Amino acid sequence: MSSSPPLQGPHLRERFAALDAFLLEHQDLWRPKPFTDLHLPWEARHPDLSAWLRSRTLEAAEAAHARPNDLDAPAPFSTLAERSRQLIALGHFDTKALPAVPARFSVDVPGRKWQQIEAFAGSLDFAAVPRHWLDWCAGKGHLGRRLAQDGSPLSCLERDAHLVEDGQALSDRLHLNARHIQQDVMAESVARHLDAQHTPVALHACGDLHVRLLALASAAGCRQLALAPCCYNRIADDRYRPLSRTARASPLTLDADDLRLSISETVTAGARVRRQRDRSMARRLGFDLLQRHLRQCDHYLPTPSLPPAWLDRPFAEHCQRLAGERLALPASIDWAHWEAAGWRRLADVRNLELLRGLFRRPLEIWLVLDRALYLEERGYRVRLGPFCDPCLTPRNLLLLAER
Ligand SMILES: C[S@@+](CC[C@H](N)C(=O)[O-])C[C@H]1O[C@@H](n2cnc3c(N)ncnc32)[C@H](O)[C@@H]1O
Repeated sequence: MSSSPPLQGPHLRERFAALDAFLLEHQDLWRPKPFTDLHLPWEARHPDLSAWLRSRTLEAAEAAHARPNDLDAPAPFSTLAERSRQLIALGHFDTKALPAVPARFSVDVPGRKWQQIEAFAGSLDFAAVPRHWLDWCAGKGHLGRRLAQDGSPLSCLERDAHLVEDGQALSDRLHLNARHIQQDVMAESVARHLDAQHTPVALHACGDLHVRLLALASAAGCRQLALAPCCYNRIADDRYRPLSRTARASPLTLDADDLRLSISETVTAGARVRRQRDRSMARRLGFDLLQRHLRQCDHYLPTPSLPPAWLDRPFAEHCQRLAGERLALPASIDWAHWEAAGWRRLADVRNLELLRGLFRRPLEIWLVLDRALYLEERGYRVRLGPFCDPCLTPRNLLLLAER
């Protein structure tokens, strides 16, 4: 871990420019998706890397997934990995010890979520003492409650009525000065809940939801806010609309598929979920190879997503369902062959994705820096760094903004 401070001041802009250049220069490596393209254009230019990745097992890919930068793969992998490593290095917030809270505060909070909350709250070191916390897309408001344990007022905005009701009950039980409000934060009416006295906090508010917070909080004159964004791909538009003037001036264009790369790290799944996910993907890929063969057409055919129960049915039935009305499947199909081909292809896909993995965190930091620069343009001093270890959540970037 680095002992340097979070990214701030001119370094935000400098890092953005460096990431922008890196992503633009290597678009041909990270845009094509191994899941949908049988052969990736870069493989002809880097045959050694391609052959090496394609020779590896699914288990080897899984082991390298969270840390692709450490992989000792043929050129140009190591050079790119080293550049990526430099670009994603971020200093840490000085974490402070929080006053302990009674165990009642963490009742009903899943263990990992509570650790995220403790780390998030421990990273907040605003110069001015917050007067009124505003938990944005609060769920049951666990984060807000942790912050308001000292008696400061708390408002929690959340769309889901059950979460609002449960959250209010939890806060009442602890005699906190908290109001849980049912509110769609995308609606016009949300503006009435935000004023200059509020310190908004948002832990894992998705795409448009946190972008809206940045716009409204800066317009309302909030002096400070803290945001850990997630799901950059959850946006209403087909294309990403950069927020800052700096990002708007970049030629880098991103669609929802590209944005998905920034959140493609999965560290939290248990063994059972992973097995299920692998089986589902192997079957989809097996079906994909089969449909290409039957249709004599080398294009990916999008398939409906099906409940996990389908994985317990025979592969043949599963394929019938994926094919639907679009494709007649002849009786003579060698199902064992296509199922095995799907598993082999899954190993290739996962290993080829390790190259894209080198651009995953750079893209995420590019997106968060767009938010940081947007806030800077609105007069905030902004700091960016991780608030917890990625094993607690891969979406571990925190923006602190003050003006
Ligand atoms: C990923 S959860 C995060 C919840 C909480 N901040 C946490 O970290 O546990 C996102 C929350 O946003 C809420 N949400 C989704 N769309 C919303 C909207 N339009 N307005 C308000 N809340 C919304 C969801 O119901 C959900 O509780």
